[in-house]
Formats: sequence, structure tokens, C-alpha cells
Amino acid sequence: MTIGYLLEIPILLAVGLLVGLMVDRQEHFRRGLEIQAETLAQSHRELQEQTRLLLEKETQLRRADRLSALGQLSAGLAHEIRNPLGAIKGAVEILQDDYPPGHSKAEFYAILLKEVERLNDVLTNFLSFARPVTPRFAPADVRETLTALEGLISGQARAHRVQVFTSFHTGPSRVMADETLLKQAFLNIMLNGVEAMPEGGDLAVSTRLRPESTAGGRPEWVEVVFDDTGPGIPEEDQGRIFDPFFTTKKDGTGLGLAITHRIIENHHGAIRVMSQRGKGTTFVVALPLEGAIGL
Ligand SMILES: Nc1ncnc2c1ncn2[C@@H]1O[C@H](COP(=O)(O)OP(=O)(O)OP(=O)(O)O)[C@@H](O)[C@H]1O
Ligand SMILES: [Mg+2]
Repeated sequence: MTIGYLLEIPILLAVGLLVGLMVDRQEHFRRGLEIQAETLAQSHRELQEQTRLLLEKETQLRRADRLSALGQLSAGLAHEIRNPLGAIKGAVEILQDDYPPGHSKAEFYAILLKEVERLNDVLTNFLSFARPVTPRFAPADVRETLTALEGLISGQARAHRVQVFTSFHTGPSRVMADETLLKQAFLNIMLNGVEAMPEGGDLAVSTRLRPESTAGGRPEWVEVVFDDTGPGIPEEDQGRIFDPFFTTKKDGTGLGLAITHRIIENHHGAIRVMSQRGKGTTFVVALPLEGAIGL
């Protein structure tokens, strides 16, 4: 055995050790990088979520801003318009006596009166929107509220040849609500459905417990689903339908869904829409059940 060969052994050992150490370091370094990448991805996800929330809040703020400006404006205007309208109506009624039914000019008085009534209605709508009532909350059963509405809308539905179907879940369905306001919110959605189907169609109203909440214990949310077979809402309009004054109807005020949105928000709920052109529209209203989230 030569001395050279003897020397080779420790050298080889040292090299082996060094390589081992380097591989170890490299592995350590790689893991560090992986952790950093995961942390970055997590931060990115959080940032995306925060941005989404921020944009949502901004939209809400813009809407609220427009609502409060509208409130101030219409409260003042309403007074100015209502009084002359009353005077016009009174004068027309007096003049009407000179033109009894059957007279060639009688129909003009009828038109005048009808239009004055219509202006009055629009004004009433604006006022109820501008001066929102403070909700008076009491326990209410969503199924009973919807059943009461079924009767209320049946005339309109028949006139449009729209069939209204209801199907309700079994289980808890009591919410803390101002029932009058909740009825108004639901009615606006149902009326829109009926109005969207002048040639007839189906409007299905159903209730369910929010699926994910039933898995781990007590359900917390009840959802009301309004499903119509109308023409759908174009995608570019879907973000605007809750804005005050957005309407695609000749006689619409564009306040129905804005009022509905506000009522649902006041009830700590949420409303969303899904729609496909030509296939129909679905509105989902989620409300916290009585006893949930501290209600
Ligand atoms: N179910 C639906 N199908 C198709 N379009 C809908 C439906 N619901 C709402 N829309 C659209 O949303 C718009 C806004 O609805 P909203 O109820 O706020 O006002 P409106 O019905 O036009 O007027 P108003 O309710 O004051 O009489 C409607 O003009 C319509 O274009
Ligand atoms: Mg409407």
C-alpha cells in the first residue's frame, strides 16, 4: 500500500462530506424558497380578496351616496310638485262638471286626471324611497311571508300568463324582520319576474337552508330563490340593476331593485343575481335565521 493511496482515503471522505453538506444546504435552500413562494402566493390571495372587498365596499358607498343625495333632493322637490298637482286635480274636477260623460271633450279630462294620478304615484314612490322607514324587527316566518305574497301577485301573474310555483324547505325559517318591508322587497323581485315575461312563463319561488351552514351544526341562513324563465339580463346590465334609476322599461322608475337591495341590507342579508340571456334569471336572497349572528 503506497502512502499516496493512504492519503486518498481521507481526501475522498472529506470530499464526500462536503458534497453531502452541499446537497443538504441546497435542499435547505430549496425548501426555504418553496416556503417563500407559498407565503407569496398566500399574500397574493389575501391581496386579491382585500381588493375584491374594497371594490365591493366602494360600489356600496357610491350607491349609498347616491341614495342620500337623492333623499335630500326629492324631499324638497316633492313638496314643490305635490301642491301644484293637487291644485291641477281640483281645477280639473271642477271643470269636468261642464263636460258630462259622453261629451266629446270628456275624455280629455279623464286623461288629465289619469296623468295627474300617475305623477302622484311616481312622487309617492320617490318619497317612500327618499325617506326610508326605520325597520321594526319582529320574528317572521319567511314561508308565511311568501305564501301571503302568492295571493297578492296572482292577478298580475294571470294577466301575463305567468305560472307561479312555490316549494318550501322543512326546518327553521324564522328570521328577524320588518315583515312589511320584507314583503315589499320580495314583491319587487316577483313583479320584475312577471314583467319580464309578457308572453307568459314560469316563476318558481323556493326556500332552502344554505347548504354549507347545515354541515357543521345549526343552520344560520335561509335562502329565498326566485327563478324565472324570462329573457334574462344582459351581462353588461347585471352590475347596474340595483342602482337607483336604472331601468330598461318604458314606464319603469328603476327604483324597485334599489329599494329591495336596501331592505335586504337592513336585514343583514345579501342578494345576488344570476342570469343568462335567453335562459332566465335567478335572484337569491339570503337572510340570517333568527338567533344566528347575534340576532
Ligand atoms: N327578472 C328579470 N328579468 C329580466 N330583467 C330584469 C329582471 N329583474 C330586473 N330586471 C332588469 O332590471 C331593471 C331594474 O329593475 P327595477 O325593479 O329596479 O326597476 P324597474 O322594474 O325597471 O322599474 P320599477 O321597479 O321602478 O317599476 C329592469 O328595468 C330590468 O331591465
Ligand atoms: Mg321593478
